[in-house]
Amino acid sequence: MKIRIAPSLLSADFSRLAAEIAEVEAAGADLLHLDLMDGHFVPNLTFGPAVVAALARVATVPLDAHLMVTDPDGLVPELGAAGVRRTAVHVEVCRHLHRTLAGIRAAGMEAGVAVNPASSLILLDEVLDDIDFVLVMSVNPGFGGQMFIPSSLDKIRRLRLMLGERNLDISVDGGVDPETAGPLVAAGATTLIAGSAIFATPDRARAMTALREAAQRGNDT
Ligand code: DX5
Ligand code: ZN
Repeated sequence: MKIRIAPSLLSADFSRLAAEIAEVEAAGADLLHLDLMDGHFVPNLTFGPAVVAALARVATVPLDAHLMVTDPDGLVPELGAAGVRRTAVHVEVCRHLHRTLAGIRAAGMEAGVAVNPASSLILLDEVLDDIDFVLVMSVNPGFGGQMFIPSSLDKIRRLRLMLGERNLDISVDGGVDPETAGPLVAAGATTLIAGSAIFATPDRARAMTALREAAQRGNDT
């Protein structure tokens, strides 16, 4: 599977998002990762579907929505209508996960489940046929620039084994940088989501190249 790099706009300059998007697209971004936070599920607030719809009008690469919200169902139709390609919801908050995932697909999007560092992969067992990707959190969600949690590597390895013949994307989010990218890909991750490693540097093209090269080295091992 091709390794994709998805810059997370959380660490971008919010006063010039269109320019930030253009810059990472020119540098070869495969997806744009959008973090929706509600101040309940995570102790931070970002933006909602109206901003996502505005970003969809300027973006040329697919949008990847990560819903860090307690009640995601109400947001799903609007995200689908905005043209978002795929949406992940957190396993920790979805009371009726099967229904929520069906709703994401019904809205025309690929469906993903996000798992926090302390959440077991067993929680995915009954929905493997209902998802298009898994989003492994390698930090506790809510903020950019946190330290990568090393046990995420083994979790990704176990997830890849658990998926077996299913050719699902494993996305990883949190602390992805040129140091962790290689081991993550070697463990089985296929989409690298990176915020601060790209946007906290002045030269985004260079940061993207460093990530891609590190990912390639991981792929070759
Ligand atoms: C954190 C978000 C991430 C965040 C990652 O809760 O889900 O997408 O932007 O930031 P970095 O790459 O800086 O760890
Ligand atoms: Zn995210």
